[in-house]
Amino acid sequence: MWTNEKDKALRERAAEVIPGGMYGHQSTLLMPEDFPQFFTKAHGTRITDADGNVYIDYMCAYGPNLLGYGQADVAAAVTRQQALADTCTGPGPVMVDLAEAMVGMISHADWAMFCKNGADSTMMALMIARAYRGKRKVLVANQAYHGSMPWNTPRPGGVVAEDRAHIIYFDYNDTQALADAVKEAGDDLAGIFAAPFRHDTFHDQSMPDPEYARVARKLADEHDALLIVDDVRAGFRMTRDCSWETVGVQPDLSCWGKVLGNGQPISALVGNNRAREAASKIFVTGSYWFSAVPMAAALETLRIIRETDYLERMEKAGEGFRAGLVKQAADFGFGLRHTGPATMPIVLFEDDPDFKIGYGFCRAAMKRGVYMSPYHNMFMNAAMTDADLEETLEATGAAFEEIKKNRASLKPSAVLAALADA
Ligand SMILES: Cc1ncc(COP(=O)(O)O)c(C=O)c1O
Repeated sequence: MWTNEKDKALRERAAEVIPGGMYGHQSTLLMPEDFPQFFTKAHGTRITDADGNVYIDYMCAYGPNLLGYGQADVAAAVTRQQALADTCTGPGPVMVDLAEAMVGMISHADWAMFCKNGADSTMMALMIARAYRGKRKVLVANQAYHGSMPWNTPRPGGVVAEDRAHIIYFDYNDTQALADAVKEAGDDLAGIFAAPFRHDTFHDQSMPDPEYARVARKLADEHDALLIVDDVRAGFRMTRDCSWETVGVQPDLSCWGKVLGNGQPISALVGNNRAREAASKIFVTGSYWFSAVPMAAALETLRIIRETDYLERMEKAGEGFRAGLVKQAADFGFGLRHTGPATMPIVLFEDDPDFKIGYGFCRAAMKRGVYMSPYHNMFMNAAMTDADLEETLEATGAAFEEIKKNRASLKPSAVLAALADA
């Protein structure tokens, strides 16, 4: 029988010793009521919460789980490196191996730098774009998430206008808006940030228009500015290269993180020779940036990416998930939009302006052992099997049945409603 007593008790204790009880995406309380916050185990495709409930996990730690939690080859690489050295006075030879591997796999890359989180990588990209010609203005698409630093965090607390004084916003996939933003930057344009595709929360996802990508490249070149693809979320879930290879456009810099170590803490920034000198001018570091264990994990993850059909398996799982949900929704009389790449879908409902159908559906599925998000893109991983899919669809079928019965009494999320009013 599903229960969340232990999770609730942990939340109460956390409220005493952690500001707000939690920070980051879980602090927003945007997940539906009763979703667990604390987990004790993760293995393959499944996570176990503090109460012992097991879920097939379609959030994959918000991305990092690419090959399955605790994937055996990556775990073995971690154990081998751990026995030698991890965080010490200088990096291990594995740092050079890893930089060579990234440069070998990512077509536009001539060099690589390593850090811990995606936000480190996007911050480095911002600094390098400015160091490149000493210019200041950086273009960012409205609502695109690039991290939680003062220049890009989505919430206003602790941020002053000066932190964003030189950021210009425009609409993704809108070439005219992009051209206007470039015009506004004038001769002070340092860089243009691009998400691989539009993957904003609460929105249908849209793939990049190749023409938009080409225009971004052209405008960056004309203004001697750097084009940056933020592949932190989508990297290696679209292709085995930078995601904009899918539209035939190469950036100067691309940001990586999440999947890189299959869950070990490591991120990266890679770039071309044009940006090399600027990259060597900035001072960036962190006590754990040179730790060898996550680098060994990343080296092994990259080998698996190169040598196996992990991507095709993930795509197959994603297509099965998509087809199954779309059919079930139709069978139960719901309109469902399932957008974005099959490996990173978002699922939104028709006629659901306050998301109460989506929230009700995900909550009903969660209580039956399937962990999904009603407002954020989800993630497939390569460990998913036909049996996982079958079990998932059994649970989602029952969830549809439940919300069909309760449709009239589904309530919008109080947190969402408060946000809409704010
Ligand atoms: C596109 C994108 N860029 C940057 C980041 C920041 O990464 P991190 O949370 O590892 O700092 C994220 C995180 O979700 C992301 O999705």
